[in-house]
Amino acid sequence: MQTDARDIAAIESLLAFWSDAGVDACYEDAPVDRTIVVTPALKAVTRATASVMPVVDMGDATADARRLAAGADTMEALAAAVADFKGCELVGMGARGCVFGRGDPKAPVLIIGEAPGAEEDAAGEPFVGRAGKLLDRMLAAAGLTDQVFITNTVFWRPPGNRTPTPQEQAVCAPFVGRAFALIRPRAVLLLGAAAAKSVLKTDEGILRMRGQWREWRLAEGDVSAPVIATLHPAFLLRQPQAKREAWADMLALADRLARDSG
Ligand code: URA
Repeated sequence: MQTDARDIAAIESLLAFWSDAGVDACYEDAPVDRTIVVTPALKAVTRATASVMPVVDMGDATADARRLAAGADTMEALAAAVADFKGCELVGMGARGCVFGRGDPKAPVLIIGEAPGAEEDAAGEPFVGRAGKLLDRMLAAAGLTDQVFITNTVFWRPPGNRTPTPQEQAVCAPFVGRAFALIRPRAVLLLGAAAAKSVLKTDEGILRMRGQWREWRLAEGDVSAPVIATLHPAFLLRQPQAKREAWADMLALADRLARDSG
């Protein structure tokens, strides 16, 4: 079959349009609205159409995640459990693999970001791109290098670097909670609105929430720690004038650690 040069130009132009819009991966022949929450009433219909459009059952997936997370007694085992987990819809949406965490699993500070981006997906480690380099510089300036373990609310890159949905975050939450329980950090730093909303279970805006100390207490077990939310380093790259607030939050974290150990 011969393709007309005008068709090729039209296809290239359409692909460029989607690429500019942030759509850089194609994993279905037809669009699927994955922001729709599947209610119990819809489950029967969804199951009937599953051969056409496979859908992860959120309840089963979350129960699976809880079971796997609870069975992990070390951070290594937890990383392996996450890598084997197929219950998050982000698996199979174009991510190359799972991005679990980096840093010291016995660190006094747990940092939770939003989701891996393209560079993190390629490297298999969180915060290795431009935002990560800024984060590393801030941690170094605050004397916190080597005192952190860094992970995200979800472990697979969302297509086009979109924000993970609350459903995707909820399915991954048992693993994030287990990391918290295994590390038992003295403080937690949440980067950006998506991480703050997911961990603190709130709809408050990040500009209101940032810089305030709250408590993160797990429903099961005796695990709690002070937590502070701050602006995401990717936001700081776009809005450098906001660095002042993020720096104040980083210093508040360093100060609290120094006070608590002194
Ligand atoms: N942004 C995040 O929230 N997490 C990463 O790992 C990288 C960029």
